[in-house]
Amino acid sequence: MPQEIIFSNDVASVLQAQILNLRPAGLFIVADSNTLPIALSLGLTQAHVITVPAGDDNKNLDSLSHIWTELQRNGATRQSLLLSVGGGMVTDIGGFAAATFKRGIRFINVPTSLLGAVDAAVGGKTGINFHNLKNEIGAFAPAHAVIISSCFLGSLPHSELLSGFAEMIKHALLCGEPQLSELLATDLADLDPERTLRLIRTSVMVKRDIVLKDPHESGIRKALNLGHTAGHAFESFALNAGRPVPHGFAVAWGLVTELVLSHMRFQFSSQLLHQVADFIGQHFGPFFITCDDYDALLSIMAHDKKSRSGEINCTLLSRCGQFHTDVTVSPDEMTAALDIYRDLLHI
Ligand code: GLY
Repeated sequence: MPQEIIFSNDVASVLQAQILNLRPAGLFIVADSNTLPIALSLGLTQAHVITVPAGDDNKNLDSLSHIWTELQRNGATRQSLLLSVGGGMVTDIGGFAAATFKRGIRFINVPTSLLGAVDAAVGGKTGINFHNLKNEIGAFAPAHAVIISSCFLGSLPHSELLSGFAEMIKHALLCGEPQLSELLATDLADLDPERTLRLIRTSVMVKRDIVLKDPHESGIRKALNLGHTAGHAFESFALNAGRPVPHGFAVAWGLVTELVLSHMRFQFSSQLLHQVADFIGQHFGPFFITCDDYDALLSIMAHDKKSRSGEINCTLLSRCGQFHTDVTVSPDEMTAALDIYRDLLHI
């Protein structure tokens, strides 16, 4: 069943209406130590609140076991409802706990970060990290509903907003030039909640339409991996080098690299490539690499989840809205793209 996505800056009222409609036997909220105040502000005094420690490192078996234990100890049944209130970490683990408890109870996602709102909370991917591998254990399990609001974003650090914005640029690239132009013209320092909610809505609809056609990522959902082959390599490389970077920043640099490849392979517009690279350079800065780092980066890319038999695999574009999934990129092509990435970001 497709998940309902509700855009509203009156989250408490929307939740009350959902609960009235679903009449759950038991209401549970999963939040992390950062989002607990937001969860408590929703006025759901009847809910049992389960808190997990914040941070992606805690998206693990211990936190999952804690959620299952609290559900069991407090009498959750198949008719209970679980609300996940938080960023991607919380909606991923909360959704997985709900999808597996008593073979599945209903859950609603209330994302509180921009990255969560435009990506993690939507589309039915749930799971945890395992043995140092991200999202190694999980299930496709759509939330009953996702309630998306911009009113929690005001207190986010600027870097977290940027992280979500990178995924919005990705969605715009997968959608069309007008959507991309609007985003690139956005003054991030001057966004009111209603305009932000409108931009989020446009972005989420791109993901929703793709997921509806391919919920289990056997085909066109791979389009959503645009920027992520190089992006994951930057992210892992940075982590291994002891200088971790936010996921969305790595995606932003990955987008520049993969738009270069899109230009080389599919004649993606050089003008748009420069516009995106300029915007990313200005807002995200560069990720410093030298040619001595290429072997390590290429090796990470070849071992990526998306890779088939050790080849580097990317989603590329011929133009905004026209994508090609499962494109095999040779090490020489990726090396050339990394050289141009460094030129474009003035490294
Ligand atoms: N984050 C990409 C997807 O949900 O498929």
